[in-house]
Amino acid sequence: MTSVHVADLVKDYTIRNGLKRTRLRAVDHVSLDLKPGRTVALVGESGSGKSTIAKILTRMETPTSGTVEVVRDDGTTVEKGAYRREVQMVFQDPFASLNPFHSIEHHIARPLRIHNRTAAGEETRERVLEMLERVNLTPAANIAPRRPHELSGGQRQRVAIARALAPGAKVLIADEPVSMLDVSIRLGVLNLLGRLQREDDLAVLYITHDLATARHFSDEITVLYRGRVVERGPADAVILDPHHEYTKLLAAAAPDPERLGRVTADDSAFNDTVERDAIDNGRCYDHFAGEWREAGVPAAAR
Ligand SMILES: Nc1ncnc2c1ncn2[C@@H]1O[C@H](COP(=O)(O)OP(=O)(O)O)[C@@H](O)[C@H]1O
Ligand SMILES: [Mg+2]
Repeated sequence: MTSVHVADLVKDYTIRNGLKRTRLRAVDHVSLDLKPGRTVALVGESGSGKSTIAKILTRMETPTSGTVEVVRDDGTTVEKGAYRREVQMVFQDPFASLNPFHSIEHHIARPLRIHNRTAAGEETRERVLEMLERVNLTPAANIAPRRPHELSGGQRQRVAIARALAPGAKVLIADEPVSMLDVSIRLGVLNLLGRLQREDDLAVLYITHDLATARHFSDEITVLYRGRVVERGPADAVILDPHHEYTKLLAAAAPDPERLGRVTADDSAFNDTVERDAIDNGRCYDHFAGEWREAGVPAAAR
């Protein structure tokens, strides 16, 4: 089984505005751990740096500084080809992530072949059908030859999940995997992710702006605000006993978690009437340690 250790991650972007260049720190000394069979929810409003962290974890971006270590139980680190196979991402937009010209079968067979999981063509096909069944796309033989536009948004996201898991993922980064789906089918897709995680003992980072689903589907919650972690802890503790001003705002705006049928349909939890920039992100409440820490500084200096 595989774990991920993220330490002091920093990502700066340079923004050019005519001749002027400004530096934007999208991620500011973020540390977090992912463990097999556990889900960490990364919660924060739009622009807080969630996708940047996801992209660094999946090596689509390089960090300005900091480290990401993916380690197996026996202590060996996961590198290169194995990294690309074992650390997989599910994106927010199920349509943009699938190629409209290719069949569903092609989408799942390709990573299987690239990562040498199957030898012969017939074996590949069997594995594809098996994966489709695992994500409840049945009858699989019926779905396999279709193209993405012939499927619903929820079905497409299931294909994206099957594609991510097909090569043998151990770590799954799900970047707002249901926020573009119809409210009525969100829970179905999240339940599917939960089941696959248990079956494959995956380490999951569930990125969302929805605190209610974060509580329901995660073991831990890490709250990100303007690039910094401002609160972290067991999911229930963060939601029932929020310490940071920003988390309190989120918790107050989130729908009643006991009535999960009503998952927030949009960004309404981040109502713009709040003067959010006035909130201090220099401190982080750590429920595990039971104390406040400085945020945005190297862990060693804390
Ligand atoms: N390629 C890029 N170039 C410049 N700025 C970027 C780039 N990608 C993201 N940003 C900026 O970094 C910040 C964090 O973005 P992002 O990680 O996408 O946040 P989130 O996923 O939480 O909405 C935002 O201010 C965004 O505008
Ligand atoms: Mg994002």
